[in-house]
Amino acid sequence: MPTTQPYKLPRAGLEREALRKKGQFWTPDWTADIMTAYVLQDKPLRLLDPALGVGVFFRAAKRYARLHDFDLELFGRDIDPEVIGQARMSGLNDDDLRNVEIRDFVLDPPSELFPAIIANPPYIRHHRLSQAQKELLREFAHKATGRRIDGRAGLHVYFLIRALQSLAPEGRLAYIVSADICEGVFAHALWQWICSQYRLDAVIAFASKATPFPDVDTNALVLLIRNARPAADFDWVQCLDRDSRELTALVSERQQKSYTGIHVHRRLLSEALATGLSRPPSDNTKHQYTLGDFASVMRGIVTGNNDFFFMTSARAKEQGIPDTLLVKAVGRMRDVQGEYFDPEDVQRLDDKGRPTRLLNVNGVLFDQLPMRVQKYLEDGEAKGLPNKTLIKTRKPWYRMEVRKIPPILFAYLGRRSARFIRNRADVVPLTCLLCVYPRHSSPEFIEHLWKVLSNPETISNLKKVGKSYGGDAIKVEPRSLERLPLPDDLVRAEGLEQYAEAKQATLFE
Ligand SMILES: C[S@@+](CC[C@H](N)C(=O)[O-])C[C@H]1O[C@@H](n2cnc3c(N)ncnc32)[C@H](O)[C@@H]1O
Repeated sequence: MPTTQPYKLPRAGLEREALRKKGQFWTPDWTADIMTAYVLQDKPLRLLDPALGVGVFFRAAKRYARLHDFDLELFGRDIDPEVIGQARMSGLNDDDLRNVEIRDFVLDPPSELFPAIIANPPYIRHHRLSQAQKELLREFAHKATGRRIDGRAGLHVYFLIRALQSLAPEGRLAYIVSADICEGVFAHALWQWICSQYRLDAVIAFASKATPFPDVDTNALVLLIRNARPAADFDWVQCLDRDSRELTALVSERQQKSYTGIHVHRRLLSEALATGLSRPPSDNTKHQYTLGDFASVMRGIVTGNNDFFFMTSARAKEQGIPDTLLVKAVGRMRDVQGEYFDPEDVQRLDDKGRPTRLLNVNGVLFDQLPMRVQKYLEDGEAKGLPNKTLIKTRKPWYRMEVRKIPPILFAYLGRRSARFIRNRADVVPLTCLLCVYPRHSSPEFIEHLWKVLSNPETISNLKKVGKSYGGDAIKVEPRSLERLPLPDDLVRAEGLEQYAEAKQATLFE
């Protein structure tokens, strides 16, 4: 049953930042009950929660053991000494907490194995880990899996590897985690390892109205994994309501004939790994064409300092910077409305005082620049710009990244707003948008490709290649966008297949 949470997440500010550093986000009781029902169904003697926090899972496990009448010894870990006090306040007693150690679970793991492990790991992304920590974690992952796990993996990825290693034979792990564990660049190597060594029993995804973490911008998954021989298929479940009853029955192998609050798909592991474990089953994994057959994708320009390099046309005039040293650009996703970006839109932004001009003096020697532009650059130098992180790698420091004008742009991040945009204003985008370069420059080809890209069926395929965030938001990186499946019938209707012939011939050979 849904329950109210005693611990609310601070919405913002320092308190929230401190939580982020330690990766502390508490699991709600209704989700903890589902996870507990999975790991405790064989009535094991011992349970480990390696990231205890305020003890949500200990309380759920006590409820379960009481209800099913068996003795259970609780073991816990956390690196934050303050959690013990908080766990006491949440209703746990000294006896419950006697096996809790304040130690790092990944780098200083327990020596014994456990028949049941349950965790909501610290969600700490890679850029919040120190270089030294990262090196130790990568070395550990390599030793454990025999594979190189990409350095962009966060702590929650290493935690999963350690948790699996700590399972006794036939032991069960329930793990609640952000969907990026199945979507990041490291995901392929990680899941190849897991699925060759362990049995994936189920993956639970949540509809946005049933998300366990409504205040956090993340798409959560629950992974249920057993230390047993791998199987060829598993249950992929979508949870539609914040209610634990049907899921609890399902994960404890008491299947019902029909469900109202969950959708259950029996999926082949091979299909799910190709589609991505966080995504619903794919009906057309065998589509023939992807965007990469017809276009290449690049991120927009990173200026290193928008305040200095990206300006309104009024400011450019005021500073005496001639049009020949400026490139028309768009700097903010919100500045582009709808699916077309036209010269009138640039005018609209100019009228509103939004920046639309990017300084680009590449190829002109300093001495040959107009005096006022030399002065502008000298002022930038006096402000210390040449020492800024990215800028200091450029020679001269004011050299700008270059992009050809992309006929099509892509808004890659957003809540239902990820979309292609026809660039009829000949702007280059800053890093807020991606550049899509059709492989042929004829206007007819570009128009046909545009028709395919703006079709809702194509847009709905974005979820197959993007990373999911809370509330249906999605983010698509350049390489993933090139893998976007284009519906075969649309490609044919627009007569594009002839342009992909070269690829088919190569495949055929
Ligand atoms: C997301 S919270 C989960 C708390 C609780 N189990 C729950 O589900 O509500 C993660 C916890 O892991 C702890 N933690 C962070 N790094 C850790 C590490 N290396 N080893 C053990 N615990 C760690 C944090 O202090 C935090 O309390």
